[in-house]
Amino acid sequence: MGYKFVMVGGGSTQSPGILEVLRQRAEELNLSELVLYDNDSERVRLLGQYTEMYYRETGSKVQVSYTTDIDAAFTGADFLFMQIRPGLNKQRAIDEKICIQNGVIGQETCGLGGFSFALRVIPAVLDIIRKVKELCPNAWILNYTNPEAILSEAIYREFPEARVLCICDMPISIEGAIASYFNKELRDLTLSYFGLNHFGWWTHIYDENGQDLLPQLREDVVSGKIDTLLQSNEETKEDQYWINTYRQMVSLFKRFPDYFPNCYLQYYLTCDEAMKHDSVDFTRGDYVMQGREKRIYEECRRVIQAGTAKDSSLHAGVHGNYIVDIAYAIIHNTRERFTVNKKNHGAISNFDPEAVVEVPAYVGSMGAETINIGAIPTFQKGLMEMQKAYEKLTVDAALTGSYQTALEAVMLNKTIPNYTVGKKVLDELYEANRAYWPELR
Ligand code: G6P
Ligand code: MN
Repeated sequence: MGYKFVMVGGGSTQSPGILEVLRQRAEELNLSELVLYDNDSERVRLLGQYTEMYYRETGSKVQVSYTTDIDAAFTGADFLFMQIRPGLNKQRAIDEKICIQNGVIGQETCGLGGFSFALRVIPAVLDIIRKVKELCPNAWILNYTNPEAILSEAIYREFPEARVLCICDMPISIEGAIASYFNKELRDLTLSYFGLNHFGWWTHIYDENGQDLLPQLREDVVSGKIDTLLQSNEETKEDQYWINTYRQMVSLFKRFPDYFPNCYLQYYLTCDEAMKHDSVDFTRGDYVMQGREKRIYEECRRVIQAGTAKDSSLHAGVHGNYIVDIAYAIIHNTRERFTVNKKNHGAISNFDPEAVVEVPAYVGSMGAETINIGAIPTFQKGLMEMQKAYEKLTVDAALTGSYQTALEAVMLNKTIPNYTVGKKVLDELYEANRAYWPELR
């Protein structure tokens, strides 16, 4: 008997890339059954029927199905790949607009867009994990759900013993860009990274001879030789948002050249510059709805209508390969190195041991064993302390329903300039998210 994999949020626009990698690598994963589970019956039907047809017609032996029945989906599962979005991109765009109108960053993981998303997602994800404990307690959950930084804090706090690994494809995507800049294969590089999710820095980029390439990268950036990095990611290469983001990341490195920054730091350290690209009439959420969402579901409809997927194909990219690589490492106990989010437990020696951090780890059948980073400098530590306090209070607010705690969390977010703005945005977001947030009192 092979393994049963479940896509939680299987109707998501992020599923196709993962579905393609699972199809290509089914044999090495010993994958025999794949279930797309979602609470959105229409989306899961579209992607489910598409995938059934596509797998069958390409000769896959994997048994594919889709369902909205969580019990049927989870029973007997070995791996759950989770990416859910309560309120869909529609709610994301509403949050973005409220923030932008009030002059602050609306990004869905940083700023108060992230705060709002966290309040929608935490209760939903904790419910799902309770179901996993009940129905398939030995299964591994690999979580891509955002805002990963805050959500992972909630997950590991509530379920310290659960088999969950919280991951993000941003570090590996940026590492791919760094590798191609140096004409190297990423697998030949060893990179050292520390921080929080969407809030971290690279300290070393060792090549196959043990030489650190970071000083070279710094010199090339500081001297003005390069002002961006070429993306390794096929899906985002042509997307103006990501083109701007990669340029902004390099520009940030030029001004803070100690360590190479994760691109998401732009929303905190240069939020005025990041906001220049924001438009209240057409936010990132709007862009995703008009683009990726439309494209994917229309293609599903076309294929279902035609009754064949023979002239259709899915694309395997970084995002799909990363999560499957991690599942592979667990199944085959490879103890390969990945960047993951886990409780610090001393990996960063001068940071809260109970806080979730994003660091490299060896992944094998026992899960992830984080790699020792040592002490971090005051600047990065200071930023992380404040961000971590914000994340923790956001989790507290989601779990207790305390308005005062929510307000305190908001005030700790670096994108919020003062009480007046913080409280106004919080109240407007609450009003717009009544159907999703816990009640705040
Ligand atoms: C990167 C991040 C994800 C995020 C995604 C946003 O992959 O690591 O956390 O969800 O970008 O992409 P989107 O196209 O939805 O703006
Ligand atoms: Mn991410």
